[in-house]
Amino acid sequence: MVGILITFDGPDGGGKTTQLGLLAEHLRRSGRTVRCTREPGGTALGDKIRDLLLDPANAEMAARTEALLYMAARAQHVAEVIAPALARGEVVLSDRYADSTLVYQGAARRLAREDLVAINRFATGGVVPDLTILLDGDAATLGGRLAGRGDADRIEGEAAAFHAEVRRGFRELAAAEPERVRAVAADRGVDEVHRAVVAVVEEFLRRRAYG
Ligand code: TYD
Repeated sequence: MVGILITFDGPDGGGKTTQLGLLAEHLRRSGRTVRCTREPGGTALGDKIRDLLLDPANAEMAARTEALLYMAARAQHVAEVIAPALARGEVVLSDRYADSTLVYQGAARRLAREDLVAINRFATGGVVPDLTILLDGDAATLGGRLAGRGDADRIEGEAAAFHAEVRRGFRELAAAEPERVRAVAADRGVDEVHRAVVAVVEEFLRRRAYG
């Protein structure tokens, strides 16, 4: 049995977590077994690494350290959660995955893309998403959602220029891999975004079933 890996990605404030939960309910209603997970984290070890990564007190963290910690959390996540669930034939929905590293540590922190691609391959053992939903929209709308959440973590607290690079990086990613990465406009109401996400996923599932 081979499962399906669908990842949600995009800039901070795009509503990934909400939309992932709604899609999980939708897929479960249609009888699928769904495993929801997230990065950084998704495992006990990964959650400890997440705390290191997001703690604003760790201001001295070098970009390469940051990249390797995200990768270390990902390696554990694939080994412990994603690969076993896929082997059981489940649908895995992950709140962020390897694309976040290419964009945050690559486009925004300016680490070499080819290095990140190679380390990602090592960390994931080659597990690539079947479909990636990129939630993006108007910067002011997304920023407003973050402001409503209270204290910013170490990455959210980065300057506006960093977040602008993140958004540009995700747009480039979607343009480079249009088959896998599907952009959905996130600066709309929750239900409207959900309907758009379902349309993309249902189309993907139909193609996969008959393709
Ligand atoms: P996330 O869990 O989406 O944050 P929140 O729960 O607060 O919405 O992700 C945490 C932060 O980590 C987010 O700002 C993006 C960043 N990140 C990277 O920089 N590289 C990565 O590889 C991943 C997975 C996340």
